[in-house]
Amino acid sequence: MSGVAVLKGGRSLERQVSMQSGARVEAALKRLGHAVVGIDVDHDLVRRLRDAAPDVAFVALHGRDGEDGTVQELLEVLGIPYTGSGVHACVLSSDKVIAKHEMRAVGIPTPDSLSFNETAFKELGAAEALDAVEERLGFPLVVKPADQGSALGIRFAASAADVPAALVAAFSYSRKVLIERYVDGADLAVSILDSKALPVVEAIPADGLRYDFAARYTIGGTHFACPAELPDALTARAQELAVRTYETLGCRGFARVDLMRDIATDELWVLEANAIPGLTDTSLMPQAADAAGIGFDELVGRVLELALARAAER
Ligand SMILES: Nc1ncnc2c1ncn2[C@@H]1O[C@H](COP(=O)(O)OP(=O)(O)O)[C@@H](O)[C@H]1O
Ligand SMILES: [Mg+2]
Repeated sequence: MSGVAVLKGGRSLERQVSMQSGARVEAALKRLGHAVVGIDVDHDLVRRLRDAAPDVAFVALHGRDGEDGTVQELLEVLGIPYTGSGVHACVLSSDKVIAKHEMRAVGIPTPDSLSFNETAFKELGAAEALDAVEERLGFPLVVKPADQGSALGIRFAASAADVPAALVAAFSYSRKVLIERYVDGADLAVSILDSKALPVVEAIPADGLRYDFAARYTIGGTHFACPAELPDALTARAQELAVRTYETLGCRGFARVDLMRDIATDELWVLEANAIPGLTDTSLMPQAADAAGIGFDELVGRVLELALARAAER
């Protein structure tokens, strides 16, 4: 039995998702016999962690602060072991621009893209270079904030006329924006547990709708095929790419890698890695674990054990 602080909530836009992940993780840890303290991450985080003096923290946060290395750095300072990736992997994976550079450097296919920060637009006249961006990437384009999750702020631009509004939307979420080549195809997600790939999940939005924030957290908004019905070679390739992405970014414990399958060519493209995958009852990683015969409690137990084992090695 361990004393476990479950960190959840926080100030990110994915707060509600994290509250659900956290509640489920707490319940699982209790069933596994651990002494659990849930902490809704706020100004008093350090004091509450010191009061609780846990053996380990289960980080069930998503998005800014929780998944980008901020809380991990604090846990390092306090000397509290924690689940999942360390500071470095969180920093790399939470910034899609940086993560894509890391992927390209080792030959992992990720859609061609360009990025701009706010300063480039406000002070360097980047708007005038948009035609060159559009020419290089072609239409449609995907415009997304560099550091958000859950499809927040993502816009699709079918033509040059759509780009300015898409940029405004993306900049309202982040100071850095990624403009990416559109991949016409299906969303695949490969969750990794302890460096090994779980079965592939394919997300199929209802009525051909796009896979956005609302669809993702609305029951019935998206249908998931798990395991995805793919040719064996494609499954193997998706899993291999996901493990390579996980290793390239230095992830630990668990993570989820999102990919697109080009419907015309069957090529696979890695979009991003999520250092702390959602753990709600509609989330993809628990479904993938389940398809591998790993129930939710076992999944949570294994993620915790990996953190404790790493702490013991130090
Ligand atoms: N280049 C792209 N081509 C086609 N669809 C995309 C592309 N990038 C993102 N999408 C769609 O938007 C969703 C969210 O994008 P993603 O990069 O995974 O960001 P996040 O999940 O962090 O919001 C994807 O699952 C996919 O459905
Ligand atoms: Mg994603």
